[in-house]
Amino acid sequence: MNYALLTSKSKLPDVKTTIFTTVGTLARKHNAIDLSQGFPNFDADPKLLSLVTDAMESGHNQYAPMPGYLGLREVISEKIETLHNHRYNPENEITVTVGATQAIYTAITAFIGLGDEVIVIKPAYDCYEPAIALNGGKAIYVQLNAPDYTIDWSDFKEKISNRTKMVIINTPHNPSGKILSKQDMLMLQELLKPTNSILLSDEVYEHIIFDGETHHSASRFKDLAERSFICASFGKTFHVTGWKIGYCAAPAELMNEFRKVHQFAVFCVDHPVQRALAMYLKNTAHYLELNNFYQQKRDFFLNGIKASRFKFTPSQGTYFQLLDYTDITMENDESLGKRLIVDHRLASIPISSFNIKNRNDHMLRFCFAKKQDTLEKAIEILCSF
Ligand SMILES: Cc1ncc(COP(=O)(O)O)c(C=O)c1O
Repeated sequence: MNYALLTSKSKLPDVKTTIFTTVGTLARKHNAIDLSQGFPNFDADPKLLSLVTDAMESGHNQYAPMPGYLGLREVISEKIETLHNHRYNPENEITVTVGATQAIYTAITAFIGLGDEVIVIKPAYDCYEPAIALNGGKAIYVQLNAPDYTIDWSDFKEKISNRTKMVIINTPHNPSGKILSKQDMLMLQELLKPTNSILLSDEVYEHIIFDGETHHSASRFKDLAERSFICASFGKTFHVTGWKIGYCAAPAELMNEFRKVHQFAVFCVDHPVQRALAMYLKNTAHYLELNNFYQQKRDFFLNGIKASRFKFTPSQGTYFQLLDYTDITMENDESLGKRLIVDHRLASIPISSFNIKNRNDHMLRFCFAKKQDTLEKAIEILCSF
């Protein structure tokens, strides 16, 4: 077997070990407090766990229907209609997926072919570009402004052409913690109106929004909803990232193509978990109280580091907070991130690798979805740095 010949034709020649793996490995080696990767270190609601056990004990252990358990799709449809005033038909406009990642991969695979352009807004979550590349598409980048991570709509407008098959947005935004405002969404709607571009709206942090702000889902805007895939994640909302379960909502014509790929990639998703989620979602407090829950964590973290030399603009959404270290050092973020782990035993994510040409914004990303004592230890380190 000539492995060298095979791998020299890698379909993803530019993909290297991700920053999450690199940082995670170093953090474990140095026994660091880990605020790098985006997952909670506390347990999910025991009620949800026992609903899964109930579903298993009641015998829901065989394949679920291909698009997902209808009871779950119905409650998702009600949730979106109540929150965003747009109805998706649970029969043919909602599909349950293996996390948002599969929803994103499937939507891209269903529509992107050789030479199709996809607008990606940087810094971007890292699963978009490999999916575009594997399908022969081409990512066209729009870089958010620094240090406020606003979008330059004139740059965006210049990047749109008749080759633009898809635009990917993410609100609330990982890693910046910014949300797209109503004005942003209206501008996007205006710019996409004359085009035939699909919008892929990654809304995995839809229920983690602070200071009374609103999540402006693409489903709220009629002309956007008509062209959008809305991708969501129960892992993020219910502290169960390891379950890898989410969903995708889109108009029937788009969803029909999506399901053609979905049925041969995964066919269907964990059945007992779907049954449990369908019951759990009926109590709206289970997701509507998440804003307060995480706002308290954000505020605790930010109050704690007020006395430090790090500067910040409070995150508007997500469970991430960027800290600006320009009052401490002008070294690049990867070098400071490494130093924080090795010398101070605190792990964060340098965000330059998510920017165009690794632009260094002198920011580190910290995940505050952590227990109180983990946050206290992190605060102590940041204040003494
Ligand atoms: C912006 C964004 N999109 C998608 C995902 C993936 O979500 P899931 O774990 O449901 O696949 C993540 C996870 O970190 C994310 O931050």
